[in-house]
Amino acid sequence: MAENIESHLVEKRVFKPAKGFVKGARVKSLEQYRRMYRESITRPDKFWAREAGELVWERRWKSVLKWKVPFAQWFAGGKLNVSVNCLDRHLGGPTRNKAAILWEGEPGDKRALTFQQLHRDVCRFANVLKRNKIRKGDRVIIYLPTIPEAAIAMLACTRIGAVHSVVFGGFSADSIRDRIADCGAVAVITADGGYRRGAIVPLKKNVDDALHGGTSIKRVIVFRRAGNDIHIEEGRDVWWHRELEYVDAHCPAVAVDSEHPLYILYTSGSTGKPKGILHTTGGYLVGIYSTMKYVFDLRDEDVYWCTADIGWVTGHSYVVYGPLANGTTTLMYEGAPNWPEPDRFWRIIEEYGVNILYTAPTAIRAFIRWGDQWLKKHDLSSLRLLGSVGEPINPEAWMWYRDKVGGGRCPIVDTWWQTETGAIMITPLPGAIPTKPGSATLPFFGVDAAVVDEKGNEVSANVGGRLIIRQPWPSMLRSIYGDKERYKKQYWSEFKGRYLTGDGARRDKDGYFWIVGRIDDVLNVAGHRLGTSEIESALVSHPSVAEAAVVGRPDELKGQSVVAFVTVKGSVTVSTSLKTELREHVGIHIGAIAKPDEIRFAEALPKTRSGKIMRRLLKEVASGKTVTGDTTTLEDLSVLAKLSAEE
Ligand code: WTA
Repeated sequence: MAENIESHLVEKRVFKPAKGFVKGARVKSLEQYRRMYRESITRPDKFWAREAGELVWERRWKSVLKWKVPFAQWFAGGKLNVSVNCLDRHLGGPTRNKAAILWEGEPGDKRALTFQQLHRDVCRFANVLKRNKIRKGDRVIIYLPTIPEAAIAMLACTRIGAVHSVVFGGFSADSIRDRIADCGAVAVITADGGYRRGAIVPLKKNVDDALHGGTSIKRVIVFRRAGNDIHIEEGRDVWWHRELEYVDAHCPAVAVDSEHPLYILYTSGSTGKPKGILHTTGGYLVGIYSTMKYVFDLRDEDVYWCTADIGWVTGHSYVVYGPLANGTTTLMYEGAPNWPEPDRFWRIIEEYGVNILYTAPTAIRAFIRWGDQWLKKHDLSSLRLLGSVGEPINPEAWMWYRDKVGGGRCPIVDTWWQTETGAIMITPLPGAIPTKPGSATLPFFGVDAAVVDEKGNEVSANVGGRLIIRQPWPSMLRSIYGDKERYKKQYWSEFKGRYLTGDGARRDKDGYFWIVGRIDDVLNVAGHRLGTSEIESALVSHPSVAEAAVVGRPDELKGQSVVAFVTVKGSVTVSTSLKTELREHVGIHIGAIAKPDEIRFAEALPKTRSGKIMRRLLKEVASGKTVTGDTTTLEDLSVLAKLSAEE
């Protein structure tokens, strides 16, 4: 990467945890945090054994960590079951009748499920899976809206040791098909449709299209959610509610090895093909249990709301597994934040008395734009803690979040992590670590994070570099599904034995981390990861396109927007309708979130003499800057002049 990683942000404001908050907090001072952190780094065995000991194991582990770079085994020899830890574990006392899930659908329908009820539903659905010949180790695609059944399906898989792979409901049929092929899934769990801004998303139809022509899928289980007409393929498709008629609520949990695969979640990388990030059982559960407890400083009576969709890692770790493993009430909301009006979130907080809100900077920036009047209509005094995740939060958005949403009294935890890390890695602990707007502050327990230069040497304070992690941690990915070589190469080879995050960062003189964003060819659009080469592949698969280069452009609302430079084949004439067609084409291949915000037709793309597209130049052109920097390797300067003139 030739670009320098620069970070010009200078932020002087510091917010100490308020006395009232500190009093009830689990970690009460910077001193206590540092003591615990030191132990977690120097004696990880001891630290993590204590955390793991708070969970239920069918058989205790023999060793906390076996590390043969870059392959880790956490709690090897141990056996446990995730659904037991999320459900059965809480049935022995008063938590039994506490709400496990509070749910609101976009049209306004509501449900509450106690831990006991959720346990029953999970056991019954696990029996449905068994009835449909889904076995331990089988891969199951879950393509559902954010409804309780998504959590039920995930937990039911874990109950029998099946491996789920949740596909975000906004992804297209092609994306589903690719994922099925990559992991060799045997079943799909879906719904007839889901709601988005009042419209019905035809989920089952997308699944039908994905399965067209034959795949490894033998069974499709369909939940009736939206009541839209769908096709039922005899012999392949069954209705969720019908299947329930054949089963009872008794389903013994299968204790699996600590390293048994728990789930695969596909995410974008710097190549054209999404990677199946593989998470396993014991370490992942310990990681999300522990981060959830300390970062959100949980109390028994909390109503906790993470606004993420179930299709992203945040939905896995902090909508479903983290809260339930801790016996915490998790609120789920199916729809858009501005449906039917821009006060939907505030309405929900008031109605359910939400205490902890965990959301994304892109949402916060949208709220700012929609105006404070929408918040003023609602009583938000139940909130006591706010969280942010998904991308860097700009200090002004942070201040607005603190003042307007948190009424100036709630600490903000800006949590940095990734699909690959499984759990939160860099974050304030709200009762212990003073916060600075825009900084994710300090590493969580057991996380040995550092900022290094191109040679892997740690840089000094306030110098930008690459963010790496120097020691394994319990919830880390174990591999890219079916591709150990790619796993090694992508994450562990640039600096041998160190995990490369792909992010740029700097540390200030207090050791606080300031994340700049991705330094590889991955975009972060509205908190969603998109690989530039994935979008390029989609564009090039269109018959009119010769070449395509996709870059990100800074965007006030979405963080980044997608700009595509496209050259067409000789006989093709460019037009606005071709632009529309190309956007639709990307929508079909990947999903609506990947559609370019802008398409620019060009006669040629700027390339180095060795034929590499010079993205840095395109980025500058896309953001309307005059091209500075080094152009000495550019093959043809006139290309650049033409691109800039396109404005
Ligand atoms: C970015 C989402 C700054 C980062 C959990 C990372 C952040 C990518 C933050 C992972 C944060 C996430 N501050 N940047 N608090 N949280 N990121 O896999 O670039 O969807 O590498 O996981 O989001 O995105 P992913």
